[in-house]
Amino acid sequence: MPPKSPSTSIPSVRELLAGRVGEEMALNDRYLNPQLGRILRTLGFDRTWVGGEGAHLIDARGDRYLDLYGGYGVFAVGRNHPAVIAAVREVMDAHTANMPQLGVTLLSGVLAEQLLARAPASVAAMVPANTGTEAVEAAIKIARAATGRPRILYAEHAFHGLTLGSLSLNGNDEFRDGFGPLLPGCDAVAFGDLDGLRRELERGDVAAFVVEPVQGKGVNIPPADYLRGAQKLCRDAGTLFVCDEVQTGLGRTGRFLALEHWGLEPDMVCLSKALSGGIVPIGAVLVSRKAFDSVFDGMERAVRHGSTFGGNDVGAAAALATLAVLDSEGLVARSARSGALLLELTKPLQERYDVVREVRGLGLMWAIEFDPLASAGHANGNGNGSKPRGTGLWGRVERAQPGLFSQMVTVPLFTEHHILCQVAGHHMNVIKALPALVIEDDEIRRFANALDEVVAHAARAPAAVALSRFGLGVARRRALGRR
Ligand SMILES: Cc1ncc(COP(=O)(O)O)c(C=O)c1O
Repeated sequence: MPPKSPSTSIPSVRELLAGRVGEEMALNDRYLNPQLGRILRTLGFDRTWVGGEGAHLIDARGDRYLDLYGGYGVFAVGRNHPAVIAAVREVMDAHTANMPQLGVTLLSGVLAEQLLARAPASVAAMVPANTGTEAVEAAIKIARAATGRPRILYAEHAFHGLTLGSLSLNGNDEFRDGFGPLLPGCDAVAFGDLDGLRRELERGDVAAFVVEPVQGKGVNIPPADYLRGAQKLCRDAGTLFVCDEVQTGLGRTGRFLALEHWGLEPDMVCLSKALSGGIVPIGAVLVSRKAFDSVFDGMERAVRHGSTFGGNDVGAAAALATLAVLDSEGLVARSARSGALLLELTKPLQERYDVVREVRGLGLMWAIEFDPLASAGHANGNGNGSKPRGTGLWGRVERAQPGLFSQMVTVPLFTEHHILCQVAGHHMNVIKALPALVIEDDEIRRFANALDEVVAHAARAPAAVALSRFGLGVARRRALGRR
């Protein structure tokens, strides 16, 4: 092994970015996540990204890509919003007395004041955090301590983060497998099933039910009365009702908080992602006065939960600027309008193509779900609809590598149309979009047209094409019957 030679001078970031551009994949493969590198190369997503602006990413050739991935939904106000950058610069230039720890600072207090003013009256205090998962961890701990009960309920298919506590509330085995044993007392209920929830609550030992108002994995929108019903059942059972708005908050669904669609009054609301404009990590839990005071119930318990960087000045300054941008640019109402346009333009694909099972969305949280076995040509992979559904090559492909059909859509969207979007979870044929709320109507139209073209093409493509282009080795062998 060659000896490590630490550089002696401090490089300017600008020089570093210019001088070593193009090395990112080699560095990733050597030091970070080579399997991610393989995926990017297999799908052809291995671009050298050099910039971001509004709803776009910019590659080294200067080509602009419409970014519907949105950094997992953090860029609600758009990438590199000048007002958020200015606030971060300003707070750095102010040389504040950041994180005195045995002392308090102004900016996180103002942030709490502003967030609580926009939240339902049921929450009255803020516990700062740095990420979404950390906000969820705080909610789990607060719920247990406030109620003295051990169990936490979550919904099937839920995603609340990947640290051990939040992972224990994760409704997707592909994330959980291999990391157990997870937190005891965490149990799933079906999303939308009030009877199942009631049965669990009746045991009287549930501290909290933690739920995303719209589920991120798959963009699952709840039945109309579900969340209000769940809240009532929780109240009656003395269980805290926790809305995880890490992804749905900050205007994403056309309201500042998604819970406003149903007039919810939860005991806790988890926030993160878009809260700091996507510029710096941040998280927060808004907590009812009662729950807060029963956890932090004496001087000796004042710091029983927290984190070193929680409530730091840079995150708070970025968040305050983000809230101001949401207001001044009317982005919450714009999200509702733009989302309605996106749905209006893409919903007809449901009728136009058998392979499109559903197009759904709320504000600018949007998804299209495919059923690759639905069209006659795909029923058995050879255009002969006489065999039972799923027995042909598409059936075998979907069993060997579920979700492969989606890549037939995301890849040409990216390579031919310069549109970046994501598959909404492992093993699912759902493509999802979380664009910046500043996305222009023309870009929404461009996406809808490109999607129509790409789906039309994918709907005609034989399974063998998908396998040979995007099939991972094992899946390819299994689907073709080779070991
Ligand atoms: C609803 C929800 N909660 C929590 C998290 C975890 O957030 P983070 O990745 O910042 O830990 C996510 C991340 O996607 C999320 O969508």
